[in-house]
Amino acid sequence: MTFDAREFRDALSSFATGVTIVTARDQDQQAVGMTCSSFNSVSIDPPLVLWSVTKTARSAPTFISAQYFAVHVLAFDQTDISNRFARSGEDKFGATAHHLDINNVPIIHDTASRFDCEQYAVHDGGDHWIVLGRVLGLAHADKEGLVFARGSYAKLAPIPNE
Ligand SMILES: Cc1cc2nc3c(=O)[nH]c(=O)nc-3n(C[C@H](O)[C@H](O)[C@H](O)COP(=O)(O)O)c2cc1C
Repeated sequence: MTFDAREFRDALSSFATGVTIVTARDQDQQAVGMTCSSFNSVSIDPPLVLWSVTKTARSAPTFISAQYFAVHVLAFDQTDISNRFARSGEDKFGATAHHLDINNVPIIHDTASRFDCEQYAVHDGGDHWIVLGRVLGLAHADKEGLVFARGSYAKLAPIPNE
């Protein structure tokens, strides 16, 4: 290899992403949730999405065993929620407006969009697990999404077509 982990991370960080929070419930009905920028679309028919969870995350065992999970795409004014769900072990849901859906998945309010998923597959991805979900339902609000690039949050600034 001609690069180290720092260089690899720096190069990856120029790939701007949105910011999501993925939520699920474990067998003891404990809610888990984590901030995630590795979300991506995979397939239209069947409707599939993916994200990856670091194997050392506290919530990783729950996410790889949960039958259902939800991916919430955050709006530009939800950096506080993003930071809360990026801190391991904190009471993430106490201060976050949410309810449980029919599959017992915690649903966070007022996000830009949401994908309600059933686990489709989990693949080994080095130090991460790659989780694929089949999208069972979705919600979409007319809210601008939050952007994450080069280690910072950002807002979309569309470039006008010439
Ligand atoms: C913008 C942003 C994006 C993140 N994306 C991911 C990700 O895609 N996968 C991941 O495993 N952790 C990601 N993290 C880190 C997790 O949110 C963090 O490790 C979290 O504390 C895990 O929660 P847990 O340990 O309670 O399970 C991201 C953090 C931030 C701030």
